[in-house]
Amino acid sequence: MSVDLSTTYLGLTLANPLVASSGPLTGSAESLKKLEEAGIAAAVMPSLFEEEIEHDVWQQHKLQQFGSESFAEALDYFPAHALPGDGPDAYLRRIAAAKQAVSIPIIASLNGTSPGGWTGYARQMEEAGADALELNVYFMATDPDVTGAEVEERYLELVGSVRTAIGIPLSVKIGPFFSCLPNIAGRLVEAGADGLVLFNRFLQPDINLDSLAVEPRMSLSSEFEMRLPLRWIAVLRGQLVASLAATSGVYDASGMAKLLLAGADVTMTTAALLQQGPQYASRMIAELSAWMAEREYVSVRQLQGSMSCENCPNPDAYERVNYLKALISYTGSEI
Ligand SMILES: Cc1cc2nc3c(=O)[nH]c(=O)nc-3n(C[C@H](O)[C@H](O)[C@H](O)COP(=O)(O)O)c2cc1C
Repeated sequence: MSVDLSTTYLGLTLANPLVASSGPLTGSAESLKKLEEAGIAAAVMPSLFEEEIEHDVWQQHKLQQFGSESFAEALDYFPAHALPGDGPDAYLRRIAAAKQAVSIPIIASLNGTSPGGWTGYARQMEEAGADALELNVYFMATDPDVTGAEVEERYLELVGSVRTAIGIPLSVKIGPFFSCLPNIAGRLVEAGADGLVLFNRFLQPDINLDSLAVEPRMSLSSEFEMRLPLRWIAVLRGQLVASLAATSGVYDASGMAKLLLAGADVTMTTAALLQQGPQYASRMIAELSAWMAEREYVSVRQLQGSMSCENCPNPDAYERVNYLKALISYTGSEI
């Protein structure tokens, strides 16, 4: 029996629900070709960061003000070597190169936190050929004078300003730390998001006990982490008219199947492809297809959301009562 793996994400029809999330493998035409050959249905490019754009703006300003010392200090504020990418112009060229190299949809990624002129780059990304844009709001609120409502307003303002800049579909990648996720999720959609990408993994710094320095620590996800998007996608599926993408901890077809059952339109992966190589995508897709055929699912659409909060037989399992049950059912060897 042949299985229809196609899905719709941000209004784009995709051949299957496996998308390469933003990361090192989606930045070059060469690796994008490998991902496409392995069956990846779409790719999100590595982010262009607000800081890179601001740095570029300062550079141009400095050139115009050549001889003035006042800008040298400001430039030091954004040391070029500390920035992740090669700047906005190179980014736009990479979008164009990606579009030439592959025929799968290419989603550009803009990463920042403060409303401002940098969001105008969204339009240039569209002009460079991006099929959609992912806005990653990677924001850490540490000021005790800022309220949760103010933080949320900032998100909405950002989304609104990017929305007005572009005509292509817009997704917003957020973290899970909101007092009421369904509320902000709904307002992000009202502000113009066509979809949400759940969730950003906030990387936690570590303290080096030898040097007594605080160090950023980049560690890959674990498979267990997919349970967080699983729960929230199941909850949000019936509440939002928007695309939902799952990211974090998607390592194999079983993770994909679970997230689709919960209600994801697509599942995204970075770490699995970094560890196993781009060709691993073909195995994930083939195993999903085999599992579906064995269970007599004819299409991904039939699978999607059938175990969401509104459709599953025991929706309370996604809620607080599940916590009580889980505590009671714990049977470790030490008790
Ligand atoms: C080395 C590396 C670089 C990444 N760069 C970006 C980035 O530029 N922008 C972004 O939104 N996410 C970035 N991510 C996060 C991934 O897109 C993804 O959301 C995260 O790794 C969780 O998915 P996974 O468990 O499949 O790795 C990066 C992840 C890794 C491991």
